[in-house]
Amino acid sequence: MVKYVIHGGKPLTGNVTISGAKNAAVGILPAALLVKGVCRIENVPDISDVRLLLQILDAMGAKIRRLSPNLLEIDCTNVRDAEAPADLVRRIRASYYFIGAQLGRFGHAKVALPGGCNFGPRPIDQHIKGFEGIGAQVDFVGGFVCAKAPEEGLTGARVNLDVVSVGATMNIMIGAVLATGTTYIENAAKEPHIVDLANFLNAMGAKVSGAGTDVIRIRGVKSLHGGFYSIIPDQIEAGTYMAAAAAVEGSDVLVQNVIPKHMDTITAKLREMGAKITVYDDAIRVQRVGRLRRANVKTLPYPGFPTDMQPQIGVCMSLARGTSIITESIYDTRFRYCAELARMGASIVVDTKVAVIDGVEKLHGATVKACDLRAGAAMVIAGLSADGVTTIEDVHYIERGYEAIIEKLSGLGADIRRIETPDGMLTKSAG
Ligand code: EPU
Repeated sequence: MVKYVIHGGKPLTGNVTISGAKNAAVGILPAALLVKGVCRIENVPDISDVRLLLQILDAMGAKIRRLSPNLLEIDCTNVRDAEAPADLVRRIRASYYFIGAQLGRFGHAKVALPGGCNFGPRPIDQHIKGFEGIGAQVDFVGGFVCAKAPEEGLTGARVNLDVVSVGATMNIMIGAVLATGTTYIENAAKEPHIVDLANFLNAMGAKVSGAGTDVIRIRGVKSLHGGFYSIIPDQIEAGTYMAAAAAVEGSDVLVQNVIPKHMDTITAKLREMGAKITVYDDAIRVQRVGRLRRANVKTLPYPGFPTDMQPQIGVCMSLARGTSIITESIYDTRFRYCAELARMGASIVVDTKVAVIDGVEKLHGATVKACDLRAGAAMVIAGLSADGVTTIEDVHYIERGYEAIIEKLSGLGADIRRIETPDGMLTKSAG
């Protein structure tokens, strides 16, 4: 079992450099399956979700070379028409991108139903709607999604999404790139990683325009060629370090390698709560001055406040003066972290999609769980700000999406250690 043990209350000071965006990388790597040639991809985050996707690609016959920790070459020229291994696919949500990628490359796909963080039902009906819209027949057979293009291949069409979905937008884009004719995705998601996937595909010869608006146009091309691409910095990793700096008394952190525009709603919310924020060309400095003030947040698709920052801002609110309200409008059960935070002294009442948080002066160290990736990040922030010792269990969730989190936080002066014990053995450090 792996745990993090944090001796809290130490100010975070200095610089931290943000890694490549997880949610861009997890779309771009499966999309490399469409390319006959070498994709040289820079700024790939070294996180467990990415390592899993690379294992899946490897099992399908891709040639992968790691030139440095964050620079990869992926060559899918001779990839076999093989299924993605179900045991690996089930461990990660983003494996649904292999449906679009296999369909585009081979004209058929068979992919186990994806896993991922559990925050209530996470349907893929909009992905299916898109694939059917461009001509595929899609069936669910024994825990697998099976998709098949017609004899004449996939054909461009208008696909109007019923809900704004990051996954469906990216998957349909991947599936349509090699179709005949033009596909329009209407009511598309606009997150930075949508734009990044479009830019990656275009760098390999695709013709995608409009990404970042609510209508994306994909003019089908016959083939994609190799090329170079650099993944954007991770908006949520950056936001997590910003929230940590705001939550921990005495902190002064320069978050480097960010695209400040992507951070606007997070920057605005932390400013509203009293953090001092200075924005530079590719860096953001966050200083904690005095106690944070209450605020309200409603999660929304980009450019609204991201659901992936909801737990981290929740920790800031639990330390703020006054009562804050969070309305979660994307997922049904993304408040499980609140029970863990309550063990540390937070005062939170959750009613389905709304959390009411009465700020307390201090949180106190305790043994808590990472319920999912961002919930885990929230526990880390809580532990850094708290008195005493916090032990966080189930940190494998955190390592799905945060590269070198221990090293990065230690570099800012945090006292955080990763402890690996054989299953069942007790650690002495719980506070
Ligand atoms: N939805 C449907 N039908 C679909 C797809 C989605 O009803 O076919 C609903 C979902 O249930 C949800 C909403 O639409 O209520 C938005 O879901 P979306 O498809 O946008 O989410 P996702 O693709 O499953 C990605 C990220 C999540 C992030 C969300 C929202 C990946 C692998 N995952 O998930 O990231 O929370 O977008 O921005 O890109 C994380 O990084 O911690 C994480 C969970």
